Amino acid sequence: MKKVLVIVLVLALAAFLVSACGGGGGKSASGGGDADVAAGKALFEKTVLEGNPGCVTCHSTEPGKTVVGPSLAGIGNKGEDFIRESIINPDADVTEGFPAGTMPQDYGQKLSEEQINQLVKYLLTLK
Ligand code: HEC
Repeated sequence: MKKVLVIVLVLALAAFLVSACGGGGGKSASGGGDADVAAGKALFEKTVLEGNPGCVTCHSTEPGKTVVGPSLAGIGNKGEDFIRESIINPDADVTEGFPAGTMPQDYGQKLSEEQINQLVKYLLTLK
């Protein structure tokens, strides 16, 4: 009898999760559009990101405002590949006037593929 109860509870929980995510706050892998952008913005604004300092601790999104790293205003114009590479492999293309090796080098390992996609989608909106 207990087993039946567990199954019912699991099903109820699953149904709840499906309905909770259906509204758009979810994590659709592709074509998520606004939901991914919002998730990326939230990740960007965390002061601690998976054990590393978060993006906002070094980057402003206001034009011309340098914190530690360059302002990311307008970064969307550089395209998806550039942004992705800058996160995963920051020293591949070091921004002029800034030292290499400042940005944490291991976001590529610490962040999930999905988190990186969300960050990239958010940064692409900064034009
Ligand atoms: C400890 C400070 C620091 C943190 C934290 C940091 N960055 Fe950076 N970032 C830099 C510096 C310094 C540069 C410029 C030198 C270089 O290109 O590596 C840079 C460069 C970049 C560039 C290229 C900018 C350009 O104009 O070419 C992007 C994009 C970027 N960072 C995104 C991010 C994102 C997204 C995060 C969070 C996941 C992040 N950074 C976290 C310091 C940081």
